[in-house]
Amino acid sequence: MPLRERHLLGIEDLDLDEIELILDTSRSFREISTRSIKKVPTLRGKSLINLFYEPSTRTRSSFEIAAKRLGADSINVNISESSVSKGESLIDTGKNLQSMNPDIIAIRHSHAGAPHLLAQYCESTSIVNAGDGMHEHPTQALLDVLTILDHKKRIEGLHVAIVGDIAHSRVARSNVLLLVKMGAHVCVCGPPTLIPAEFESYGVKVTYHIKEALQGADVVMMLRTQKERQRDVFYPSVKEYFALYGLNMEKMKWAKRSAIVMHPGPINRGIEIDPELAEAGTSVIFEQVTNGVAVRMAVLYLLLGASEEADL
Ligand code: CP
Repeated sequence: MPLRERHLLGIEDLDLDEIELILDTSRSFREISTRSIKKVPTLRGKSLINLFYEPSTRTRSSFEIAAKRLGADSINVNISESSVSKGESLIDTGKNLQSMNPDIIAIRHSHAGAPHLLAQYCESTSIVNAGDGMHEHPTQALLDVLTILDHKKRIEGLHVAIVGDIAHSRVARSNVLLLVKMGAHVCVCGPPTLIPAEFESYGVKVTYHIKEALQGADVVMMLRTQKERQRDVFYPSVKEYFALYGLNMEKMKWAKRSAIVMHPGPINRGIEIDPELAEAGTSVIFEQVTNGVAVRMAVLYLLLGASEEADL
């Protein structure tokens, strides 16, 4: 198997060779999505189940599209209409789905560690973490790094500012782990109430001042304020949050002229980012979404037994 683990649960599971392999494979798959017939039989006969306990537009659709473009079948479990609403546990749900012999389950769950728990009970099915609580979102970080490499050609030595609701963001944690592993200088920035102390231990710079974060940045990654996870009041008002931490054209002048603007989506326009900037030439937000399909094609392919003779 090209990857050491049968599951993709977090960035910490991947070494640098495996990361390079996923990125190279993603690049080779991108071309399929530009063809008039966007389908190859590489994973014909394989099946993916999307088990999303939380809402998603980009991740769930791109896993489904990725599976279909590689010839696999994909099934979306509608949680609100499933037996979860009758009280069925995650473990029972997983064991029952596994009994139908899918090859892979992509799971999103509000609880950190849910994919890891599922992996313990699924001996014959690969589990992919599509976002677990405030913990990790590994395929998002991989597609983000692929997008950065498209523009900057390297990660080592790059200055990356990650700004916003760090505390509730699995995107932030996965990106920090991946970018630091690949040699970037990462600065995380947000209100003191939204940056957990543990981030210092990840080898990143922490600041509460957006000017300090943006100065000399090659990449500015804005994060959504995650209202659905905030159990408290973390900033006085949206107006003040945007004034202090929202990105606009004026603040972008502190970054390098060649800096790119990223956002994992969904965007809260006018809260963390000026709508004008989200659509500006420096924004690569929609490229991130396009790369999400390629990265998820690569992850499915590599977890489901890639072979040299693959029919692309
Ligand atoms: N970036 C991301 O995870 O978006 P979705 O919540 O729409 O999947």
